[in-house]
Amino acid sequence: MWAAVPVAHVAYSAVSCCRKRKERSVHSIVALFNILKKEESAPLTRPVPQHIAVIMDGNGRWAKKRGLPRTAGHKVGAETFRTIATYCKDIGVKYFTVYAFSTENWKRPAEEVQTLMDLFRRYLKEAIETMAEKNVAVQVLGDLSVLSEDIQQLIADCNEEAAKLEHPAIASLCINYGGRDEIKNAMRAIAKKVQSGEIQPEDITEDMISQNLYTAHMPDPELIIRPSGEIRTSNFLLWQSAYAEYCFTDVLWPDFKPEDLEQAIADFNKRQRRFGGI
Ligand code: FPP
Repeated sequence: MWAAVPVAHVAYSAVSCCRKRKERSVHSIVALFNILKKEESAPLTRPVPQHIAVIMDGNGRWAKKRGLPRTAGHKVGAETFRTIATYCKDIGVKYFTVYAFSTENWKRPAEEVQTLMDLFRRYLKEAIETMAEKNVAVQVLGDLSVLSEDIQQLIADCNEEAAKLEHPAIASLCINYGGRDEIKNAMRAIAKKVQSGEIQPEDITEDMISQNLYTAHMPDPELIIRPSGEIRTSNFLLWQSAYAEYCFTDVLWPDFKPEDLEQAIADFNKRQRRFGGI
């Protein structure tokens, strides 16, 4: 459940925070490094969630603030995804899942949809080439049947590469994903088994429903982060989020940094999770 985190990452995070505070001098940063260097041999542990999910919101507003087209926000948002996915893996987060394109996002202007699909294409190609070296299995969750054939092929190639990895970190992109759609599909699959007599209605369990979702064989997310100041779930991981802790921040996704993730993890670690108990 909890992972050991090397001092170097804490140092990175601490230094990043220091950078933001102009009043701190270069000398204090050097002093901080010296203290941390001395401790480097002693492994420091701190809890990190096993599964973090993010609603990558605020790309359009980020672009608008700069007088840029919305697509520019998505491009920078894709870079932020790379940075945060790598950081998650480095600090020991086993599963990192992002909401990249919802079942409702097809309503957006064609140019915006096209840009997002191109970003997915580029990322999947890159993932196929670098997966073995990074030991990160990239997978896509959602109703993939309506995606273009070439993207479906890239996803299949990704899955093939991912299957070769041993104990990888898992990065999941939710594309053409909707929580209600996912639950509906699970219900249909289970209903077919009841119809064929394979199971009885009484045999349906929560675990069976979980195993018929796109996230089957993954643990539920413990922490879900939504940047950009919006405070809603927007149809993301509806079933899986039953006991997730939410963290909302005003930071727009393209501006989201490892230190914002660290802040969310620190907030998460202060929460008392009771799962309905006392
Ligand atoms: C919602 O913010 C964001 C999306 C619908 C798309 C998110 C996708 C990316 C960041 C690209 C990901 C790419 C890869 C390769 C993972 P919004 O644009 O609706 O923001 P707004 O509310 O400010 O308009």
